[in-house]
Amino acid sequence: MALKFITAEEAASYVNHDDNVGFSGFTPAGCPKAVPVAIAHRAKEEHAKGNPFQIGMFTGASTGDKLDGELARANAVKFRTPYQSSKDLRTSLNAREAHYFDLHLSELAQSLRYGFLGKVDVAIIEAADVTEDGEIIPTSGVGITPTICRLADRIIIELNKKHPKEIRGMHDIYEPLDPPCRREIPIYTPSDRIGTPYVKVDPSKIVGVVVTEEENEGGSFSPLDDVTMAIGENVANFLVNEMAAGRLPKEFVPLQSGVGNVANAVLGCMGANPGIPAFNVYTEVIQDAVIALMKEGRVKFASGCSLTVSNDALADIYSNLDFFKDKLLLRPQEISNNPEVARRLGLVAINTALEADIFGNINSTHVSGTRMMNGIGGSGDFTRSAMLSIFTTPSTAKGGKISAFVPMVSHMDHSEHSVKVIITEYGVADLRGKSPIQRAQAIIDNCVHPDYKPLLTEYLNMGVKGHTPQNLEACFAFHKELATSGDMRNVDWSKYKA
Ligand code: COA
Repeated sequence: MALKFITAEEAASYVNHDDNVGFSGFTPAGCPKAVPVAIAHRAKEEHAKGNPFQIGMFTGASTGDKLDGELARANAVKFRTPYQSSKDLRTSLNAREAHYFDLHLSELAQSLRYGFLGKVDVAIIEAADVTEDGEIIPTSGVGITPTICRLADRIIIELNKKHPKEIRGMHDIYEPLDPPCRREIPIYTPSDRIGTPYVKVDPSKIVGVVVTEEENEGGSFSPLDDVTMAIGENVANFLVNEMAAGRLPKEFVPLQSGVGNVANAVLGCMGANPGIPAFNVYTEVIQDAVIALMKEGRVKFASGCSLTVSNDALADIYSNLDFFKDKLLLRPQEISNNPEVARRLGLVAINTALEADIFGNINSTHVSGTRMMNGIGGSGDFTRSAMLSIFTTPSTAKGGKISAFVPMVSHMDHSEHSVKVIITEYGVADLRGKSPIQRAQAIIDNCVHPDYKPLLTEYLNMGVKGHTPQNLEACFAFHKELATSGDMRNVDWSKYKA
């Protein structure tokens, strides 16, 4: 069946008010760009005419500004799941102008198949190649592409010429069967291939192909500062000690590492540490540090859902495909983040906390318990199922006015039952096998900033009885103090003592 080439504006005309739209990609990698901008224009035009125009949005994870940013600014978002990190969309979610369902990333594809989230009307897919018989080669991020292509009534392709057709072979596309027919996912090492190198769709559903030549909206990393470097070194040294103690195998286990600067620094420090052997990565986002370490032979293989790398790193990969092609594999997030596989491979999972409490619970998402930052992302997929789940965080935020460690988290994403180790620039709190009071002592002694150690020690010693000495009157005093004086260091416990 011949493909029909159309403009982005024509493509946008296939998207109607109230439609649920699925987008390819994961982070800005692999996301469509031209068609979302055209949809945002269409929304603004309809709004100017007094007509409603808002869509439900399913994505892999966060996206680029041309997707979440443009649509949020056009007030075109009715519903959004599973993760975002756009400043403008965040504003809209926190103003409750758009409804947001913060979901474990591994669960989205099956939730769509199960019918939990409504119908998928349109799928908009960035592709490096598409054939007349319906084979789509994704670009640098996969996300939920196979599922939305299968479920959608209409498929729009953004054929992006910035991505060479020769990346065919870098993807492993697989969708599990649904219960009661589901079998194990047959991945036993990170490099196991279980699917096809393309997404196969019914070609009659492809309503049009928009040819683009848009750069990835690749971010860049901040220069490493002392705090980030100290966290990275503490993680690397902790893992070396675990190997020496025989709690990690000498050939190491695959690594999952979260997003952002700290995660990138951790990887860099692990690569630089001669005590850690060359390792494999089984993760969600493959960042710049993995690519650099691969070139040095320190990372042997990386399986992920996206190449969330700078444009320079992506250009490097594309001009050295012979070297990278048998070392990188991009999978749907249902597989890259699959808890069954994380448990089987025995991952070391390293993610970043927004806030932790002294008993080991983690808040990854809500500032002061109310304002959504980004979302839980893949952190829950990995934390609960990994062999060793580590959370990293700088000990303070906003120049020391906020302690990352509080008596009780203001929102809980990962509970004390899943969190095994917490690491800051000051050191490592190993929480394994410890009671609540022992965990609190380990966190205060090893991770908390010196400005907050006396305050948290005093909290612990208030004389509250019970297994977890949580003072229900005072447990949010840090947050209340931040809201009133703007500095958690001003907490005065005498107000709370009998
Ligand atoms: N209270 C209020 N603000 C806080 C805070 C706290 N306890 N801790 C950090 N912040 C602020 C920082 O000051 C910073 O603000 P700014 O953007 O105005 O400078 C912002 O939050 C981000 O903090 P930063 O230290 O730069 O961390 P980050 O970029 O590494 O992001 C998370 C941290 C938690 C927001 C991020 O890792 C995330 O979204 N995690 C959830 C998803 C996830 O883990 N995905 C990976 C799975 S594979």
